[in-house]
Amino acid sequence: MGVAAVRTLTMASPQVPALQIEAVPVLADNYVFLLSRGQQAALVDPAVAEPLIALLEARSLELVAVLQTHHHADHIGGTPALLERWPACRVYAAAADLERIPFQSDGVAGGDQFTVLEQPVQVLAVPGHTRAHVAYHLPLSADVFVGDTLFVAGCGRLFEGTPLQLWTALQRLTALPPETRLWCAHEYSAANLRWAIEQVPAADPLAQALKQRLAQVQQLRSRGLPSVPTTVASERATNLFVQAQGPEQLAQLRGHKDTWRG
Ligand SMILES: [Fe+2]
Repeated sequence: MGVAAVRTLTMASPQVPALQIEAVPVLADNYVFLLSRGQQAALVDPAVAEPLIALLEARSLELVAVLQTHHHADHIGGTPALLERWPACRVYAAAADLERIPFQSDGVAGGDQFTVLEQPVQVLAVPGHTRAHVAYHLPLSADVFVGDTLFVAGCGRLFEGTPLQLWTALQRLTALPPETRLWCAHEYSAANLRWAIEQVPAADPLAQALKQRLAQVQQLRSRGLPSVPTTVASERATNLFVQAQGPEQLAQLRGHKDTWRG
C-alpha cells in the first residue's frame, strides 16, 4: 500500500517527538489519516482494517484513538476489527450517532475538546452530508479533519442535512485562519475542478485560478501523491460551494454537480 507522508510538525524535541500526519489511500478513492507521535498512533475514518493493522504493526505503532467524522461504511468499516487488535483504543464519534456508530467509547458534540497524542482536539459540528457529521480541529498544528463535508473545489452530497446546514458548515470551516490545512476524506479534486471550470465564464479571473489549481492537482497525482490536504486560503479562492452567496445558491450548485458526468 502506498503511503504518502505529507505533514510533519516542527515541534520535535528529544523529549517530545513530532506529530506526523499521513494520508493512507484505501478503497477506490478514500483517505484514512494516520497520526503518529513516537510509538503511538491515531486513525481518522478507518474504512478498512487489515492494511492499517499491517501498516501499524510494521512500524511497531500502538493504536490509541480512532476519530470518526460520520457513520458511512467507507469511514467506519475498519474500526471493529481495529478494536479487536487494540482493545484499549478510544473511539471518538458523534454521540448523536450512537445508534449508527455503536462502538464509540467517547461520544462528542460540537464545542467539545479532548486530547489525542498530546494534541488538543476541538470538535466542530458540521452537519449537512449527514445529520451528525463532525470535524476535528487540531488548533496547535492548524489541521482539520473534515470528513465528507468539504473536498478540494467541492463539498459532500446533501444526504441528510439542509442546504443551510451545509452552507453554514462550509463557512465555519473556511472561517479558520487561511493557512489551516483541511484534510478531505476522498480524492475527488481533479473531477471537482473540471466541473467548476465549466461553471465559470472563460474570461472570469476565477477560471484561470481554477485551471492553475487543476494543474497543481494533476502534477501531484501524476507523481502518485494525494492532492489532500488543501488549505482554507485555497478553498476560499477556488471552491464554488464555499463562494456560494447563501444556501439557495449552494443547493443549486450541489444539484447540478449531483447529475454532472465529466
Ligand atoms: Fe460519507
